[in-house]
Amino acid sequence: MAQIKHVAIIMDGNGRWANQRFRPRIWGHVRGSAVVSEIVQSADELGIKALTLYAFSTENWSRPLEEVSTLFKLLKKFLQKEKQKILANNIKFKVIGDIQNLPVDTLSLIKEIEELTENSNGLNLTFAFSYGGRAEILRAINLFQSSHPGVEMTEADLSSLMYRPEAGDVDLMIRTGGDQRISNFLLWQMAYAELYFTPTKWPDFTAGEFKKIIQNVSSRERRFGNVSVQNGLVDSVERAESNKASFLKGINS
Ligand code: IPE
Ligand code: IPE
Ligand code: MG
Repeated sequence: MAQIKHVAIIMDGNGRWANQRFRPRIWGHVRGSAVVSEIVQSADELGIKALTLYAFSTENWSRPLEEVSTLFKLLKKFLQKEKQKILANNIKFKVIGDIQNLPVDTLSLIKEIEELTENSNGLNLTFAFSYGGRAEILRAINLFQSSHPGVEMTEADLSSLMYRPEAGDVDLMIRTGGDQRISNFLLWQMAYAELYFTPTKWPDFTAGEFKKIIQNVSSRERRFGNVSVQNGLVDSVERAESNKASFLKGINS
């Protein structure tokens, strides 16, 4: 069974969920934020090592101001409400994205929880807020260029300069809400992710469905370009390198 260590979720469908009920989109976000805690707990119980949740994208800044400010308020409320649970469950928490422009009180709450959980060894929980995958890659390239001028960058260098390198590559990306796209989420880390799209809108998503998805995907064969299951992408890449070397030696001799 393929081990799923890092799960990433695009929590989509809040607005449509509310519209179907003749309520404002904002109501969908309020109901959606109530689901987050249940899924975090479930991920922890299922033994998942890292969970990254897409809460607000760089593109979401273009939404009506009232909606944007509701999403900010919900983030703060979530942090206030969940802080004790995060600490009690030994969760290691981090927010990734361009968060400098968040309200100062939210920012200091984020920093406080990040610092308090710095040495936790439980679930790696990441909130992607004001996050864009392209922006994350560009930031990493610029950081590398300024510290290593003129040096050619490797894949390992780029991976190590992501916002949260310890979360590693994404094994499974789930998107709720029925759309089948990745909307600028974790572009670098998702190179070999399994993808799962469910029509369930985020406010209706449950720990039960989450568990079923994990079970379903765990039985998929992940080949990483190989012909049969190996121990993972790293093993496959190493074998590819040695095969390539032997092959080229053969044709050149
Ligand atoms: C996801 O739900 C939450 C955010 C993007 C912040 P949406 O607000 O995108 O809901 P739909 O996709 O319009 O239904
Ligand atoms: C992606 O959902 C972002 C989040 C869930 C935070 P969107 O609803 O913003 O994405 P698009 O517009 O359908 O691509
Ligand atoms: Mg959406």
